[in-house]
Parts: sequence; C-alpha cells; structure tokens
Amino acid sequence: MGEKLYLVRFVQRHAEFRLAEFEALCKLFDIKYKAHTEYTDLSPFWIVSFRSEDDIRKILSRSFLIKCVLEHYACSEQSLDHLAELVKDIPQDVFEVYRNDTFKFVIDTFATSMSGKEKIDTIEKFAYLPFDGDIDLKNPKNTFHVIIDNRHTIEKEPRAFYFGRWIGDGNREFIDIYNVKKRKYIGTTTMDAELSLIMSNMALVKKGSLVYDPFVGTVTSSCFGSYSFGSDIDGRQIRGKDGSMFNDSHLIEKSLKSNIAQYKLQNRILGTVVCDITQHPFRPDGFRFDAIITDPPYGVRAGAKKIMMKEGGFFKNTEDGKSFYPATIPYELPDVIYDLLNFSSVYLEIGGRLVYWLPVIDDEEENDLKEPPNHPCFDMISKCPQIFGGWRRILVTMEKKCDPESIDFNIKKDHLVEPFRNRFFTKMKLNSEA
Ligand SMILES: C[S@@+](CC[C@H](N)C(=O)[O-])C[C@H]1O[C@@H](n2cnc3c(N)ncnc32)[C@H](O)[C@@H]1O
Repeated sequence: MGEKLYLVRFVQRHAEFRLAEFEALCKLFDIKYKAHTEYTDLSPFWIVSFRSEDDIRKILSRSFLIKCVLEHYACSEQSLDHLAELVKDIPQDVFEVYRNDTFKFVIDTFATSMSGKEKIDTIEKFAYLPFDGDIDLKNPKNTFHVIIDNRHTIEKEPRAFYFGRWIGDGNREFIDIYNVKKRKYIGTTTMDAELSLIMSNMALVKKGSLVYDPFVGTVTSSCFGSYSFGSDIDGRQIRGKDGSMFNDSHLIEKSLKSNIAQYKLQNRILGTVVCDITQHPFRPDGFRFDAIITDPPYGVRAGAKKIMMKEGGFFKNTEDGKSFYPATIPYELPDVIYDLLNFSSVYLEIGGRLVYWLPVIDDEEENDLKEPPNHPCFDMISKCPQIFGGWRRILVTMEKKCDPESIDFNIKKDHLVEPFRNRFFTKMKLNSEA
C-alpha cells in the first residue's frame, strides 16, 4: 500500500478559522503535511497525509476545531454500497492486524440523520471485514467510522461516503473547563472560551511563552504552560466592578483574581496593571513578549479612551474634590490599532505573534476596506472572519519578522492605517448615525 492517508474531520463551527488553526498547530509542532483534497470552508472533511501518527496526535492535543482524525481507507461519491465495494477491494491484510481486537462501528452523519435501523443496516454492509474480536461499545481497541456527508442538500454537491479508523479526537473537552457560563466573574465584553483558546493556538502559545494582553478586561488567559500578563485602563474591570457578593457572610470575590483562582492559574499569571496602553510602563531595552493576544476596545460595548491633557489640566477632579483622575479623551479604533501594531513591533520577539480582533462593516461595494492593515515589521499570517449581521470581526494573526528601524515609533501613520481610517471608519460612523 502507498502513503497512508488521513481524514481530518473538523467540527462544523467557526469554519473560517479551521485551516488557520490547523496551520498554526503544524507550525507550532513543526509538522509537515500534504493535502490530498482541496480544503474548503464549506466541508468539514479533508484528506491529508502526515509523516507520522505522532504528528496527528500532537495536533489533536491542541486543536479546538478538529472533531477527530481517521485513518482514511476509502471514499465514494456514489453510495454506501459503492463505499462497501471500495473497502472490499482494499487488500484485506490491512484489516487482518485488527482481527482479534475489540472494536465498534460509529456512523457519523453530516447534514442528514439516520434511524437506528438505518445505522445497523449500514454497519451490516461491512460485515465481510475480518473482525473476530468482541464488539465493545465503551472501550474498544479500534473504532471504525462510516461517514455520510450529505452536503449536497446545502450546496448541490454530490454525497460523499467515507470509511476510516479512528485515530483520536481534538481537544474540545478543554473548552468546557473555561466555559464562560461557569466562570465566577464576567463582564459585558468577556471573550468566549472557545475563541480565546483558538487565539492562543493562532499565537503559537506553548510552555514557557510570555504572553501579554494590553486590553485585558476581565480575563487573562494563560494556558498550555504559558505565563501571562495583562493591563487595562479601567481598574474596575480587573478588580471587579460591583461584582463581589456575600454568601453566608463569606465574601465571594468576583474579579479577575477570582477567575485566576478558579482555574488554579496563580503560578502562571505574572500580574496585571492598570494602565493606558499609550502610557504603558515598558521600556524598549528590556524583555520581549512571545505573543500579544488581545481584543481591543472598539467602542461598542467597552468605550475606548486614552489619557490626554485637556483644557484645564491633566487631572480630572471628582465632585467631592478629594480624588483626582487623569483626564481622558476618546480613543479612535484606527489609533488603537496603529498603537497596537507599533507597540507589538517593538515589544514582541522576532517570530512572535500578534493576534487581535478587528471589527469591520460588511459592504458589498467596498471589499478592499475589509483588509486589516499591514505593518513593515510583520508578515500577515491569517485573517479569519467571524460573521454577524451586517458586520464581522476579523481575527488577525501577524508574525513579527524584524525590529522597527527605530524604537522611536517613527513608522508613518499614513502608511499603516490612514486609508483604512479615512474611508472605512467614516462609513462605520455613517452607519451608526443612520
Ligand atoms: C473588548 S474589551 C476586552 C475584553 C476582554 N478580552 C475580556 O474578556 O474581558 C476592551 C478593554 O479595553 C480597555 N481599554 C479601553 N481603552 C484602553 C486603553 N487606552 N488602554 C488600555 N485598555 C483600554 C477597556 O477598559 C476594556 O476592558
């Protein structure tokens, strides 16, 4: 038999992120693969070859968008009977090695469903296979999948039927640990756990990585053995605004700190500081971050602001005259992105990744305006859209390739964001006023 093929079975969620996550994990683990079918976001099935099954297991250990990977034996675009014929044509010594093992069959349907009887009839079509071991539905040594891909009902493509041996599942169970519904403290802009974890994959986070979130809000994610650090201009987000409550006279703390305790990440979180990213405490001759992962403020639910001298002084007095706060002005999204890219160009290691969300309005006529800005110090790695009604937010992944020529942030602003700002954000504003 020639090269072993594998069927990657993705989950039917965040289709636009699947290939980017897969490629990020291949880069993280230095895995080479060869595609044997064309990848399309329209299908959760993709046939690929790898150098070893170890490589597949590494990818599965971190993937949130792969449901499972199968050793691929056959695919028919005609019928289940045809698939059974194709499997019969495979030299049966391929299956001999499994003859005495316990086993089970799984029928996996996509865009269709099957009754219990139809499933049994389907399994019967493969009764000729030389499996003499006991059927074990709970803990079989081998699991064989028959997949019925009925996508044609959605997009008029032919049905496809696959047969394969289960190699392993992706790491979706991990998502539930961080489920926002079970989290002690959340805010109005708290990032969904699945997307946060996907962001960490895109950023190639691994054991020992130093990760920074400059707009940390209510959560700083530190997973896969990384260390993380966060900051936010609004200390209430970090400390827990009106969040704490009493239960049987015990204080139940609701803050970023209580989230860290909930996930037992105390030894992984380096700390948080309250600061405006435009007045941050870092100095360029110091350390570098391995990754910057963030959800910047775009003014819809969390107002973006930055500290700025106003008429009458730098500090804002409270009504009682006892406290003084720095005065702030609105912080426009193009400026946020510009500052984020420039900050990252200095404070990321070369090869380090910046992963951030960029919101854009959908407009058929002005597709070019949906392009996230480039930066001379970065390669653009992926731009994955999450689509909502009338707008989308793009998960942008960039990799630093060189240091800026000067640490003086002297990259021309026009070069980065101006076209985007002038044309796109005018439109965004017009839409919000309409
Ligand atoms: C979209 S929210 C981040 C949400 C966060 N990912 C979470 O899960 O809670 C954006 C955050 O940026 C903060 N922010 C706004 N302007 C800022 C600035 N100039 N510097 C630092 N943080 C700022 C806001 O207070 C808000 O918490």
